[in-house]
Amino acid sequence: MSDAAQGHGLSIEHALRIDDADMAELCEATDAAIIESGGFGWVEPQGRTALERHFRGVLLVPERELFLARLDGIVVGSCQLVRPPRNNEAQAFGAQLTHAYIAPYARGHGLARLMVTRVEERAAAMGIRVLNLDVRATQATAISLFEGLGYTRWGTHPAYARLGGQTVAGHYYFKLLEPGRGRSTDKLINEAG
Ligand SMILES: CC(C)(COP(=O)(O)OP(=O)(O)OC[C@H]1O[C@@H](n2cnc3c(N)ncnc32)[C@H](O)[C@@H]1OP(=O)(O)O)[C@@H](O)C(=O)NCCC(=O)NCCS
Repeated sequence: MSDAAQGHGLSIEHALRIDDADMAELCEATDAAIIESGGFGWVEPQGRTALERHFRGVLLVPERELFLARLDGIVVGSCQLVRPPRNNEAQAFGAQLTHAYIAPYARGHGLARLMVTRVEERAAAMGIRVLNLDVRATQATAISLFEGLGYTRWGTHPAYARLGGQTVAGHYYFKLLEPGRGRSTDKLINEAG
C-alpha cells in the first residue's frame, strides 16, 4: 500500500524563508542524520545554533536553493540545488544536487525519491541540462536511490573523504535533464555550436 493510501502526507517545498518552528524541526532532522551516518559534510552533530546559522546563510546565497522534505507536515530532511557562480558561463548549463538526507525516523516512505524528482523538475524549469552529484561509496542506500533514478556513475575518487581516521572513496554521478523546450539535451551536447 502506498504511503498516501496509509495516510502519510509527503511533501517537498522550495524554501524561501524558514519560520522558527520549521527551523527547529530542520535542525533536529539534520543532527539526527549526521549522528546516524552523515550525508552532509558534517561528521559530528552541530546543535541548533550552528545549523540555524548554516541554513539562514544558505537562504541568502543566490546560487543556492534549499528544499525541505515534510512527513505529515513535519520537516524531516532537506537538500540543496547549487548553480555555478555567474562568472562560470561555460558550466551554466549544469548544477549540483548536494546535502541530501532524510532523518532516520522518516526513511522508507519515498520522501528522498520525491525530493530528488522535485529538484530535477525545478532545475529543468530553470534550463539546467545536467545535474551532478557525488556520494560516499559507503552510502549504499543513497547509491541505490540515485542509480534507481537514472544517474550515471562516471568516476570514483579513491580519496573522497576522511571519517573516523579512515579514507573513504566517493562516486560521482550525472543525469541529463530535458527542459522540455528547444533542442533535446542529447542533441545539444553532441552538436557543435
Ligand atoms: C539516502 C536517503 C536520503 C534515502 O531516504 P528515504 O526517504 O528513506 O528514501 P526513499 O524512501 O525515497 O527510497 C528511495 C530509494 O532509496 C533506496 N532505498 C531506500 N531505503 C533503502 C534501504 N533500506 N535499503 C536499500 N535501498 C534503499 C531504494 O532504491 C529506494 O527506491 P525503491 O523504494 O524504489 O526501492 C536516506 O537513507 C539518507 O538520508 N541517508 C543518509 C544520507 C545520505 O546518504 N545522503 C545522500 C548523499 S548526499
